[in-house]
Amino acid sequence: MAAKLQAPRGTFDVLPEDGQRRRELYRRAGSVLGRYGYRPFETPVIEDTDLFARGVGESTDIVRKEMFTFEDRGGRSLTLRPEGTAGVARAYVEHGMHKLPQPVKLWYWGPFFRHERAQAGRYRQFAQVGTEALGSDDPSLDAESILLLAELLEAAGVHEVRLRLASLGSLEARAAYLDKLRGYLREHEGELSEDVQGRIDANPLRAFDADHPGTRAVMAGAPRLLDNLSGDDAEHFAEVRALLDGAGVSYDVDPTLVRGLDYYTRTVFEFESGRLGAQSGVGGGGRYDGLVEQLGGPATPGVGWAAGIERILLASDSELGGFPRPVYVAVADDGGRREAFALATALREAGIRTELEQAGRSLKGQLKHADRLGAKAVAIVGEGIEWKDMGTGEQRSVTNAQEAVRIAVGLEP
Ligand code: HAM
Repeated sequence: MAAKLQAPRGTFDVLPEDGQRRRELYRRAGSVLGRYGYRPFETPVIEDTDLFARGVGESTDIVRKEMFTFEDRGGRSLTLRPEGTAGVARAYVEHGMHKLPQPVKLWYWGPFFRHERAQAGRYRQFAQVGTEALGSDDPSLDAESILLLAELLEAAGVHEVRLRLASLGSLEARAAYLDKLRGYLREHEGELSEDVQGRIDANPLRAFDADHPGTRAVMAGAPRLLDNLSGDDAEHFAEVRALLDGAGVSYDVDPTLVRGLDYYTRTVFEFESGRLGAQSGVGGGGRYDGLVEQLGGPATPGVGWAAGIERILLASDSELGGFPRPVYVAVADDGGRREAFALATALREAGIRTELEQAGRSLKGQLKHADRLGAKAVAIVGEGIEWKDMGTGEQRSVTNAQEAVRIAVGLEP
């Protein structure tokens, strides 16, 4: 027997109930983002593999083990995008967007791919909504990005939200700090997990992220980047904090906050929700002042974030606006089928969600079905049109389709 066909591991179908919530979230996101001056932007789902190696970083988990990479028919190496920032930075350079008034503020929504171990809230294909503001290093952009995500999570009905905030400093200051950290890790090499030992040179910061008890004990005493910021970076961070304080946003400064991407400089942040299990990150981001230059463009600062759509929906208890209740057009006998079809069309043209009998049910079966659909009224089309209000139970004859449409328009949603 042929193997049963199923959606690939770590992927899922969006069933209609969820489809509705995703739509509504998209609508609310667009409305919040528009108010902050961000404009919609799209980049391809496939990019040159090199973009992520250079942008996200060779030593990150994403590039080392999580990318869906394949060769196309021309022998080029392509990758399904694991994140959005590298693609946006590539597009900024490709379209000469540094010539536009700065900062350029963009937002996106779409599918991303990471070959991770699938579990609740962690998928191999997932959707993100995200923003990027390129062309200014003003701390108000950092604060605005954070505020924007906080507002979006609130509009989405996400609860038990906690914001963690830190600064990684500029690339130069970080390089000096990383040397110091490497020195410290080497002094304690024997106590560290093998994985961390293997990455002392390439990515010593990841040691802060380890679950391994020995490593955790060593890291408790490790030098902290936040205590080693240069004057400019410390000032920048203080200003971001002051703006957030002024806006009434609460946050925890967390010197152990490590993001899984190499491009970050200065501000980094992550929103978590207590409603989620192990995969508690709803959204996160930060500043990436060296990325555009690293991809061959002019020196251009940038800041942004992305949030997981599935995680937002898991952490939200909001209905996110269900479907409006329909009017149901029933058919009393076969003779009424064409009139019923015409009435349903007229109701839909008048902006009313309308369901029509289309499965050969008896009249009794149709009324039961209308009830199941939560119909607010039923129009029974036979000799004439009988109008039944499902709320009051009241029933009356209407003279023609126009009158039926007029009544339907006047109904409560
Ligand atoms: P990220 O933290 O890797 O950042 O991902 C952002 C969000 O995407 C996470 O907080 C999570 O909600 C969601 N997410 C990530 N991986 C998965 C997965 N396997 N399954 C479900 N959801 C997932 C970035 O991607 C950066 N590009 C954000 C950014 C934009 N930084 C600056 N600009």
